[in-house]
Amino acid sequence: MLVGKRITLIIGGGIAAYKSLDLIRQLRRAGAAVTPVLTRSGREFVTPLSVAALAEAQVHEDLFDLKDEVEMGHIQLSRASDLIVVAPATANLMALMVAGLADDLASTLLLATDTPVMIAPAMNVRMWQHPATQRNLAQLRADGVEVVGPDVGHMACGEHGPGRMAEPAAIVAAIAAHFGPRPLAGQKVLVTSGPTHEPIDPVRYIANRSSGAQGTAIAAALRDLGAEVVFVTGPATVPPPEGVSVQKVETAREMLAATESALPVAVAVCAAAVADWRVTQEATQKMKKGAQDLPVIEFSENPDILATLATHARRPRLVIGFAAETENVVAHARAKRTRKGCDWILANDVSHGSGIMGGAENTVHLITADGVEDWPRLPKPEVARRLAQRIAEALA
Ligand code: C5P
Repeated sequence: MLVGKRITLIIGGGIAAYKSLDLIRQLRRAGAAVTPVLTRSGREFVTPLSVAALAEAQVHEDLFDLKDEVEMGHIQLSRASDLIVVAPATANLMALMVAGLADDLASTLLLATDTPVMIAPAMNVRMWQHPATQRNLAQLRADGVEVVGPDVGHMACGEHGPGRMAEPAAIVAAIAAHFGPRPLAGQKVLVTSGPTHEPIDPVRYIANRSSGAQGTAIAAALRDLGAEVVFVTGPATVPPPEGVSVQKVETAREMLAATESALPVAVAVCAAAVADWRVTQEATQKMKKGAQDLPVIEFSENPDILATLATHARRPRLVIGFAAETENVVAHARAKRTRKGCDWILANDVSHGSGIMGGAENTVHLITADGVEDWPRLPKPEVARRLAQRIAEALA
């Protein structure tokens, strides 16, 4: 997959550095040559010996190392690769990159290079969410740095939230996407994601549970294969991916309008958890409690976006839906595929205790006209990559 590619891997100081050892292993297995650079604080977490052994290459550590300078000057080192990957990229390394400081080998390489750079940030949640880090992130993106992760989850420091370094497999996939073929180049695709909010009055609404994590990952995976992605999202908890056209909506009717105006598209993936009903008459003022008997709310049915796209005059070639079920997952999903007229359904069990709703992983069954494929339990980005790959094959 990465045969002949030369990767300079800068390992910053953070507990996630242990994952960089696995990253080296996976990169080597994919055929890449890895030139490791270990920062002073990175050396506190992993040893130069284990890095060198896995990379089967010399570890570069110091800016003023005469032996290094004789064999390969640091300017030459900064250019002698196809991609520089910083993993883990600490808040400090990101700040150094933004400021253009060069006070050690890693930061000097990053300043001196004309090679593309990818970072995999890893840090405490608060550090990640700090306005300074978010400012730096925006600047790095504007400077053309590719960013993979961070993931949301439990961290070594005991907190929960965004800040975990992306898994090595996800970093390898991002690297492969960087170099890789772009089978969906020139194809426009549509992804719906997140919940919809159906207002009751100016302060209340009804909604489905949805973090938007799976839809976001699908949009990112399609983008990585070169597609032009229109991402129509309700109020999700995860931020939309970079590099896609984002259309933010609130209600199902707004979502339908946004999807229809995106047509024609080659593929529509409906991952949104659309509310089935809306309140027929939204109150214009906040409904007061105690002012009357308990309110009686009348509902109307919302448009079915998936079914509308599947029967549309400008129907996408491939229409894909989800079926979130709590029982008889495959049977219900098969029936849904026929009823809605879509080509594929990704069915998943969202029953209490499955851990899928709002979780990091998903167990799906891909239902097509040919039958059912059971996929193993996978991280949501991996489900997304498999689906994107299948979509590329179907359009080929
Ligand atoms: O009928 P159900 O909500 O289970 O169908 C789920 C699938 O249909 C998902 O792909 C979802 O995005 C889509 N859907 C839709 N519009 C609706 C309801 C569901 O696009 N109003």
